[in-house]
Order: sequence, then C-alpha cells, then structure tokens
Amino acid sequence: MARILVTRVMPEGGLDPLVTAGHEIVQRAGDTPYNHAELVAAVVDVDAVVCLLTDRIDSAVLASGAEGRLRVVANVAVGYDNIDIEAAQHLGIAVCNTPGVLDETTADLAFLLILSASRLGSEAERDVRSGAWKGWGVRQYLGRDVHHAVLGLVGYGRIGAAVARRAAGFGMKVLHHARHDTGVPGYTASLDALLEQADIVSLHVPLNEDSRHLIGARQLELMGPDAVLVNTARGPVVDEEALAQALHAGTIFAAGLDVYEREPEIHPRLLDAPHTVLLPHIGSATQATRAQMAQMACEAVCAVLDGNRPPNLVTS
Ligand code: DGY
Repeated sequence: MARILVTRVMPEGGLDPLVTAGHEIVQRAGDTPYNHAELVAAVVDVDAVVCLLTDRIDSAVLASGAEGRLRVVANVAVGYDNIDIEAAQHLGIAVCNTPGVLDETTADLAFLLILSASRLGSEAERDVRSGAWKGWGVRQYLGRDVHHAVLGLVGYGRIGAAVARRAAGFGMKVLHHARHDTGVPGYTASLDALLEQADIVSLHVPLNEDSRHLIGARQLELMGPDAVLVNTARGPVVDEEALAQALHAGTIFAAGLDVYEREPEIHPRLLDAPHTVLLPHIGSATQATRAQMAQMACEAVCAVLDGNRPPNLVTS
C-alpha cells in the first residue's frame, strides 16, 4: 500500500482507482490550495502526488519528494506547464497528465467562445440583465458571422482537430498552423499568413518557451480590425497588455478568453474591454470530463507504482 497525496478535493469518483488499488489517500481537511512551503513539506513522505494545474510543482517540491520516496506526480490536466519536467526527469520522478479525455469538452467551450465573442453575447446579456436594453434596434449588437468565416487554428493537436470538426458544421473554411506539417488540408506553414487570412483565430498550443506571447501586438495587427481571438489554451500564450490595448483601440474586433496570464488575476484593461467574453478557465469543466480526468491521473499513479508505463507519461 502506497501513500498518495491528493492536493485538492476531486470530482466524485475521481479517486476510485486509488481506492480500488488499496492505496492510502493523504488529503487534508477542506479544499484550500497548498502554498509552496506546504507542498515542499507535504511531499516528503508520499509515494505519489495527484495535483491540479494550480499547484506549482517546481524543482524544490520535486527535490523534497525525491529525498523521501516520491515516484510519480500526476496532473489532473492535459497541460503540465505547472510542473518542472526537466527537474522531474533528472530526479527520476515520473510525470503524467490527462490527454484525450477532455478534447471534445474543451472544443465545445472554444466554440462557445467563438460564437459568443463573434456575436457579442456577453455585452448583449449584460445589457439585458442591467436593464440597459430598451428594445430591438436594427443597428444594435452587430457582430460578425461565424458561419462560412475563415477559422485559423493555432496548434492542431487533438483539441484543435476537435474544434475543426465543429467548424465544418458551420460551413467554415479551416486553416491550421502547427510546428510540423500535419498533412491535413488547411495546413499553413506560416503563422503570419494564417493570422492575415483568418476571421477568427483560436489557440490550441501548449505553453512553453516557444509559445509564450506567441500572440502579441504585431500578430494582433496582422489579424486586423475585423478579427476575433479565442484562447482556451494557456493565458501567457497571449500578451494580455497588447490584447487589451487592441480591444480598446478597436484594432481587433473581439476576444473570447478562458485563460489568463496571471490567473486568477485578470488584466484590469481586459475587464472593461469592449467585445470581450471572459470565462474562468472552464474549458474541461463538465462533471463527466473532470471525473474522467481525475480517474486517468489516478490510474497513471497506480500503473507507475506497479512498475508499469502508463500511456499518459510525460517524462521519458
Ligand atoms: C488542462 O487540462 O490543461 C485544462 O486547462 C484544464 O481544463
């Protein structure tokens, strides 16, 4: 029986694989996030950690675990930019994530943002709720058509491809940019060319040093004043300062954001930006998907502790 630190309360059924395997679950009362010092201390006497993307598992945490008996960290997320993979690799600690199970759910949310940002859903609803809407008007809330628009996907992994499938139903022309030629029609080798051609740009790249601020002032300018930007990937992929400026200046039409550079802080100029839909990082937030993500992370922990290689291993 191994000791598994679970940093937060998980969705119902999420810990079932650990329970079935008979492992001891170490969970403190309540659902307060561990701060860094607490995490460093908490990993000392556990074999595994099941954590969230809001837990910063850096080299200090990993080194502390390695001094004890930590063998595996499983992130309940597909993105793992919160974990120092190089340090884990160096210390021989396995890292796992949750690819696959959240693709369709996240693509649904990307499409919600594509529609809502293009059709000014947030501000129209805000006016209804506040009583500012005084009746139908022929020039009110004039958005951009989504149907038959050109959709530019930046990143074409499983989630990007799932968004492309939805776009087909809207008669959209889909372009995608990825680091390597996908061989799929619509592949656009130049990001600049994609940004210039797309009416709506949706981001689906992991956060790493190559993708940090991939969309900044220059790229927003290439997109132009009719364009819509959607980000369900990671906040730092977009230079928020540049985006807020472009939205206020009207040099970009609209934005739909689910992720932010400094979550849960939101850039103040985004909060009052026109044509902007802001959601609280809920891309994968359905009951079924979140439970599956937790289960997948726990299954990976069990596999590593049994000496097996789980399919969702990030480290080699
Ligand atoms: C992930 O899994 O990386 C998502 O951001 C969580 O929804």
